[in-house]
Amino acid sequence: MARAHHEAAPSVDQSYACRYPPTSHFGWSASIVSRFGLPSLPINSGTGNFRRMTVSELETEEARAAADGGRVKRDYVRRTFGQIAPTYDRLNHILSLNVDRGWRRKAIAALEWTRAPRGTYVDLCAGTLDVAAELSRSRGFEGRVVGADFAEPMLRAGQGKAPRAVVWPVVADALDLPLRDGEASGAIVAFGIRNVTDLDASLREIHRVLAPGARFVILEFTTPRLAVVRWPYHFYCHRVLPRIGAMLSGHGSAYAYLPRSVANFPPERELADRMSRAGFADVGWRSLSLGIAAIHTGRKA
Ligand SMILES: C[S@@+](CC[C@H](N)C(=O)[O-])C[C@H]1O[C@@H](n2cnc3c(N)ncnc32)[C@H](O)[C@@H]1O
Repeated sequence: MARAHHEAAPSVDQSYACRYPPTSHFGWSASIVSRFGLPSLPINSGTGNFRRMTVSELETEEARAAADGGRVKRDYVRRTFGQIAPTYDRLNHILSLNVDRGWRRKAIAALEWTRAPRGTYVDLCAGTLDVAAELSRSRGFEGRVVGADFAEPMLRAGQGKAPRAVVWPVVADALDLPLRDGEASGAIVAFGIRNVTDLDASLREIHRVLAPGARFVILEFTTPRLAVVRWPYHFYCHRVLPRIGAMLSGHGSAYAYLPRSVANFPPERELADRMSRAGFADVGWRSLSLGIAAIHTGRKA
């Protein structure tokens, strides 16, 4: 009944939920802490003298390695978002002073979904489904949105934001989407692509699932060009945000990972070039809020 206005259901593979089981605890470090108190491990300080490294130092090191694209990135990102899921929305709006809502709306408009209002859209790295829900609420939208994310607790935290008949949360990796070639009428990713381990592979995977002519939109943080903006922004991101983030989320490193991962993300032109190399046509971008974020768009030729 609820799906009456839809065309055939997309081939969303629900077995993905089994392939990526939810995080059932708060990570190894927290479980060790709760059982044995704050542990510390001997590390070589570089001078030959060993000192002990606290759990929080270990976590910060892991966050740094993940933000720098190290081998720990996939596990770190998936586990961390699983842990901060309950406080993610609230913190997002506090830390961005609600500006993020307007950015998401602009990104959805850039998707030009009105060309195919009954189509299947992918909200990639969907998190708590803000983009998917906003798109589903758009006046005239009669399609469905597959909200794909590999951190199940994030998807669960977003439950109830939109009817299940319209927004389908699917536990899936951005590098291996459970959709057929050419099945999607459009795809969008907000603040997610920076977190994937292989940017080029994920761009190719998105390109694969899009129908010819379908649009792809990336909303992502960028590093402001103007020094007068960059310096205070840098101070806020590296000094203020990690402290507030840690205080309100209870997570030691997640909000230290964020600014570092933004700093390591390719600048606008390079991202546009990589989208073109992945096969997208008509690639372009526009800056938002003095260069703090940008919306990139492309189309499958
Ligand atoms: C910063 S959140 C963004 C969530 C949401 N799009 C928003 O606008 O608030 C990034 C999300 O990307 C997800 N993510 C990161 N890498 C992923 C991957 N390889 N596959 C699927 N999801 C991924 C994380 O689990 C997290 O939920």
